[in-house]
Amino acid sequence: MPSQADIRRTLRSGSRSEVGAAAGSVENGEPTPVKSGDRDERHPSTVSGWREAGVAFLWACALMAPMLGIGSAMMYSDWRRAEDARLAAIWEAQAYERLVAAPAAGVVPVPEAVHGRELFTGVCIACHGPQGTGVKGLGKNLVESDFVAARSDEELRQFLVTGRPDARPVGMPPKGGREDFTDDDLRHIVAYVRGLQDPRRMPELPAAVAAAPSEEQKTAALKAAGGNAELAGYIASGDTLFHSTCIACHGKGGVGIQGNGKALVNNPFIQSLDDDSLLAFVKQGRSPSDRASTTGIQMPPKGGNPALSDDDVLDIISYLRTLQPAKPVGAGAAK
Ligand code: HEC
Ligand code: HEC
Repeated sequence: MPSQADIRRTLRSGSRSEVGAAAGSVENGEPTPVKSGDRDERHPSTVSGWREAGVAFLWACALMAPMLGIGSAMMYSDWRRAEDARLAAIWEAQAYERLVAAPAAGVVPVPEAVHGRELFTGVCIACHGPQGTGVKGLGKNLVESDFVAARSDEELRQFLVTGRPDARPVGMPPKGGREDFTDDDLRHIVAYVRGLQDPRRMPELPAAVAAAPSEEQKTAALKAAGGNAELAGYIASGDTLFHSTCIACHGKGGVGIQGNGKALVNNPFIQSLDDDSLLAFVKQGRSPSDRASTTGIQMPPKGGNPALSDDDVLDIISYLRTLQPAKPVGAGAAK
């Protein structure tokens, strides 16, 4: 039996065995012998055992604390992020409402709006409609869009650069399908969209004028028409119209865009129809519910541009004929 003095001595020397305890040298609750000069006997004292176990526990706590700290800090930051996202979503969900209720931002400069309108009408209306209010089964309503209202001009421009090509059932191609759009072009489109979304910002605009064919398009058309100047005129005009209205879904030169519109180059459907039947087809489009639908994606009437006249569409058809190498160039366009 240990004497009172023994117990006291053990208690005093306990501090020296702390390091050993923390290093895990307490086995089965039995402390390792304490080598402290004057005593080298074992001290089977339970008081000592409890004490060292307690010390070990404290050490374990001291070691765990930083880990627990990091763990809970991570949990907190995850929560914070989710909370921020939730608040941002709530904030964004009311962006259009706030826009309408707030005093209007400045009126968009006329030259920007005019240029923006020309590009928007050429490309974006195919899927978003002439007023930007959306087309069922195609592009969203941009007017009552919280997404649009919540973003700065620069953020919107960046969005247009990437689009949402992976969205289903219909994607939005980068730059609406017009790779050639410059930063300024996109800025002007954004300016025009601002005016569409908030009419208080839309300036009085002069009547729109149709874009004229470029020299390059005229030269290509004359070559395709085999020197026939009249036919070349139709083709060049059709080329221009195609590359504003139809390019969004059918791609530059009619090569098609995966998930949007079919290739019109070397296309059996076009080759199988005469001009009048093709005119009727383009005027009507092809809805996904149509039995003839092959993609399940909508081909809107007139490609979504109600401003196209029959003559405009016939010009486009003259151009489409030049993309069909199977037939003599321009064969279908003579009327
Ligand atoms: C081929 C069809 C197509 C064309 C062309 C197109 N878009 Fe889109 N756009 C879409 C679709 C589809 C969506 C919605 C995608 C989704 O499901 O999130 C969309 C979404 C958007 C959005 C986000 C709206 C919101 O509330 O989330 C903006 C802004 C937009 N388009 C602007 C434009 C502009 C400007 C143009 C012309 C440069 C354009 N789009 C051309 C199909 C098109
Ligand atoms: C918003 C997208 C979109 C626009 C804009 C668009 N098309 Fe289409 N078009 C389609 C889709 C999608 C199809 C395929 C429909 C199907 O059969 O599933 C298609 C099919 C066609 C076809 C039939 C091809 C075939 O092999 O069956 C022709 C011809 C055509 N489009 C011409 C045009 C012309 C001309 C324009 C411009 C005036 C135009 N499209 C604009 C989406 C579009």
